[in-house]
Amino acid sequence: MTLPVLILNGPNLNLLGFREPEVYGHDTLADVEALCRSHAAGLGLSVDCRQSNHEGQLIDWVHEARTAFSGIIINPGAYSHTSIALLDALKAVQKPVAEVHLSNIHQRETFRHHSYVSQAAKGVICGLGIQGYSAALDAMSRWLSPSAQRTTKEI
Ligand code: DQA
Repeated sequence: MTLPVLILNGPNLNLLGFREPEVYGHDTLADVEALCRSHAAGLGLSVDCRQSNHEGQLIDWVHEARTAFSGIIINPGAYSHTSIALLDALKAVQKPVAEVHLSNIHQRETFRHHSYVSQAAKGVICGLGIQGYSAALDAMSRWLSPSAQRTTKEI
């Protein structure tokens, strides 16, 4: 049985590959999604990749994860730094969350150093480019493994 993972990309990430390539690289969102699909398959996970420029849409999708997904990987884009509503949604669904940023947000403008979303994330990855999504899937696979579930229950 493959465990379903929701992969969300937030505002402006549809422009990956064209948008500030010196910061975000030359890979497109389609490349990111293809990488996620093939990497997930090797881990026994299935992925549903979605992107939106709208905060409410991202929140509605997070809510869907309550019943339809085992975990969430999210690059919230600039909503990381502004959205308490997205943080609340992620906390509400009580699923493991991995937060991904392509760039090293701590090396950039100070307004990018804080992420509300990180408060709901089990793990945060930044600065690894698109490989950050593979790293997030690796972590998700460990978090969702039966032995990890057992350990969590025992604690
Ligand atoms: C980003 C970093 C954010 O600060 C920025 O607003 C983005 C992309 C990243 O992947 O590095 O849109 O999340």
